Amino acid sequence: MRVTMIGTGYVGLVSGACFSEFGHDVTCVDKDARKIADLQNGKIPIFEPGLDKLVVDGAKSGHLHFTTDLRAAVAGAEAIFIAVGTPSRRGDGFADLSYVYAAAEEIADALTGPAVVVTKSTVPVGTCAEVERILKRKRPDLAGQVAVASNPEFLREGSAIEDFMRPDRIVAGVDTDHARQVMRALYRPLFLNDKTPIVFTSREASELTKYAANAFLAMKITFINEMANLCEATGADIQDVAKGIGLDGRIGGKFLNAGPGYGGSCFPKDTLALVHQARQNGAPSRLIEAVVDANTARKKQMADKIVKAFGGVTGKTVAVLGVTFKPNTDDMRDAPSLDIVPALQAAGATVRAFDPEGMHEAAKLLPGVQWAGNAYEAMDGADGVAILTEWNDFRALNLTRAKSLLKRPLMIDLRNIYLPSEMADAGFAYHSIGRKPV
Ligand code: UGA
Repeated sequence: MRVTMIGTGYVGLVSGACFSEFGHDVTCVDKDARKIADLQNGKIPIFEPGLDKLVVDGAKSGHLHFTTDLRAAVAGAEAIFIAVGTPSRRGDGFADLSYVYAAAEEIADALTGPAVVVTKSTVPVGTCAEVERILKRKRPDLAGQVAVASNPEFLREGSAIEDFMRPDRIVAGVDTDHARQVMRALYRPLFLNDKTPIVFTSREASELTKYAANAFLAMKITFINEMANLCEATGADIQDVAKGIGLDGRIGGKFLNAGPGYGGSCFPKDTLALVHQARQNGAPSRLIEAVVDANTARKKQMADKIVKAFGGVTGKTVAVLGVTFKPNTDDMRDAPSLDIVPALQAAGATVRAFDPEGMHEAAKLLPGVQWAGNAYEAMDGADGVAILTEWNDFRALNLTRAKSLLKRPLMIDLRNIYLPSEMADAGFAYHSIGRKPV
C-alpha cells in the first residue's frame, strides 16, 4: 500500500519505518530540509534503539523514502497519516492543533483521488471531524472519496519499535467501510502473525482512548508514588506493596514503579489536555486534576529529599546519574531532573552529572552543571550520589570503586535500582523511594 507519513518526529518516524518493514511503500514528509537530508543519508535525529537499522534497511529495500515535497508524497497515496506535534498551548495546557490543521489544509490541496487521512498525533475528541470539514471545504470535488480515521499510537520511547511491532492492541476510529479496510490492510502482518486485536471504534472513542490510556497510566504511577510516601512514613516497603497489589489481575503489575514523578513528552502534556477538555465539556476530571498537581509537587519534593539526605548541600558537590526522563532515550522533555537539578543548585550545591545519551540536550537546559564522561567521573570527589534515571549502566556500579571515589558513601536512589541490604553491606548510607533508609 502507498502510505504517506506527515511529520518525522518520534511517532511519525517510528511508524513510517515500521510500516515500511511491513512491506508498505512509505514516504515520510517533513518541512525541515536538513532533517530530511540527514534521514536520506541514514542519519537519525533521535536516539531510539533499533530505529537506525530499520531506516537504513527500509531505504535499501526501496520501501522507505524521505522528502520535503508534501504535494508529491500525497498524490496517489492510499493512506495519509498526520503525525505532527500537538504541544501544550501556552497558558491553558490545551493541545495546540495548529500543526494538525495546517497539515490537513496542505493535504487537501495535494489530494488527487480517493484516500484515507489518518490522525496518528494525539488529538482531542472532535479533531477528526474538524479535519474532515477542512477537506470537504477545500475539495468538494472529492466528496465521498476521502475518509478521515483516528489511529492513536501507544508506543513508548526507548522501546518504540518493539511496541509498534508487538502492540497489545491497535485502536482504529473509522466511520466508513473503506477506512476500516485500509486500516486492516495496513496492520495485516500484525493480526495475521501475532493475532493482535484491532479495536474498531467511532473516531471520537478512538481519540479519547489515547488520552484515557495515558491518563490512567499517569494515575497509576501517581498512586504508587503516594503509597511510597505512606510507606516512608510508616516503615512499610513499597516494593512489597506494589507486588502485593500488582499480582491481582484486576490491577496488574506494570507501571507500579515508584519514582521521582512521571515526565516525558506525553503524560504531562496529555493529562493537562484531558483536564482541559473535560472542563470544557462540563465533565471535569477531579481525579486527573489531582494527578497533575501531585506529580508537579512530587518533582519539586525530590530535591528536598536529596538535600535532607545530604544534611544540607551548601558548598557540597552532588553527583547526579541520569538526567533524561527515562532510560534509552535522549529526551529531556519534562524530565524530573529539570526540577531537581536547579533546586539543588539553588540550595547551594555544585552538580556534577552524567547521562549516557541525554547530556547534549541537557546541557542546553541545565546551566551550571559540570558534565562528566562517565558515572565514576561524576562521583569522583563528590559528597554523595543521586540516581535520577534507571539506565542499565547505573544498575551494576562497582560499589567498592564508587565508595572510594566519593567523599562520603551516600546514595539517594530515586528509582529503587539497588537493594537496601546490598547497599548496607557495601557500607553506604542509602535512601530510596518508599523503603526504609539504611
Ligand atoms: C507513554 C506511554 O507509556 C505510551 O503508551 C504512549 O504511547 C506514549 O506515552 C505517548 O503518548 O506517546 P513514554 O512517555 O515514552 O510513553 O514513556 P513511559 O515509559 O510511559 O514513561 C513515562 C514516565 O513515567 C517516565 O518519566 C517514567 O519514568 C515514568 N514511570 C513509568 C514511572 O515513574 N513508573 C512506572 O512504573 C512507569
